[in-house]
Amino acid sequence: MTGRLAGKRIFLTGAAQGIGLAIAKAFLREEAALFLVDRDSDLLEREAKAFGESGEKVAWLAADIADAATITGAVRQAAGKIGSINALVNNAGVNVFAEPLETSDEEWSRCFDVNLKGAWNCCKAVLPGMMEAGGGVILNIASTHAFTIIPHTFPYPLAKHALLGMTKSLGLEYAPRNIRVNALAPGYVSTQKVIDYWNSFPDPEAAKAETMRLHPGGRIASPEEIAMAAVFMISDECPFMNATCLTIDGGLSVQQHPA
Ligand SMILES: NC(=O)c1ccc[n+]([C@@H]2O[C@H](COP(=O)([O-])OP(=O)(O)OC[C@H]3O[C@@H](n4cnc5c(N)ncnc54)[C@H](O)[C@@H]3O)[C@@H](O)[C@H]2O)c1
Repeated sequence: MTGRLAGKRIFLTGAAQGIGLAIAKAFLREEAALFLVDRDSDLLEREAKAFGESGEKVAWLAADIADAATITGAVRQAAGKIGSINALVNNAGVNVFAEPLETSDEEWSRCFDVNLKGAWNCCKAVLPGMMEAGGGVILNIASTHAFTIIPHTFPYPLAKHALLGMTKSLGLEYAPRNIRVNALAPGYVSTQKVIDYWNSFPDPEAAKAETMRLHPGGRIASPEEIAMAAVFMISDECPFMNATCLTIDGGLSVQQHPA
């Protein structure tokens, strides 16, 4: 199927690698126009240029979503490049894992500035245009950390719980304006972030094997498997899906314990 996102002008954050990059590729296959944002300018430029060469409608900007003024400007710039934004994917996020009592103020701020405030900065910047246009759709990439806790990963799950709360809140607030706000909750996905996580253990291979063992299907997700769900949630194929969360974790979060 193609053209499922034709007419969507999408502001996508964290697009330079991992899940965001897979989402960008899937969205382009479905004929969306994209405005890509990432704070890693080199990586973003390399990936975005490759898209442009195939003739897709893509523009990009290196920016930090934690900076509200920059994001307001970026949304204005996006409108000039691909047309007024009618869809937002808040994907950019950072792992900040510590012991609660050892969490520094800097770690706390970095975690919430990006994972929560950054997403809000983007929502705040696109909502007025969506309301003016009579509708829109927002997708927040949360995590199974939005409703479960893995010890020693503080304060990341707190920010993801709050992101889910923001999803519900904005979904209710803006439903009368024809704006849907949903979240997607991946479990483990094979990106650099997860490799870095395994590498934080004394025996990374053992940590990886343990992650696989925890999963009912013995494997974790690929970024493309998350992107397929994002296409559906941004498309007009689920017009009454609002203020909710779709979990994609191979069944990990519903099991009481591994077999
Ligand atoms: N990988 C997983 O297992 C997993 C699981 C659940 C949820 N998630 C969530 O999915 C999203 C993407 O994760 P990923 O694994 O692809 O990560 P990743 O680290 O591979 O990619 C994240 C991208 O976001 C960008 N970014 C980070 N902070 C930014 C900022 N302040 N402004 C702009 N760009 C910024 C980075 O430069 C990077 O390119 C995150 O929100 C993450 O919390 C990931």
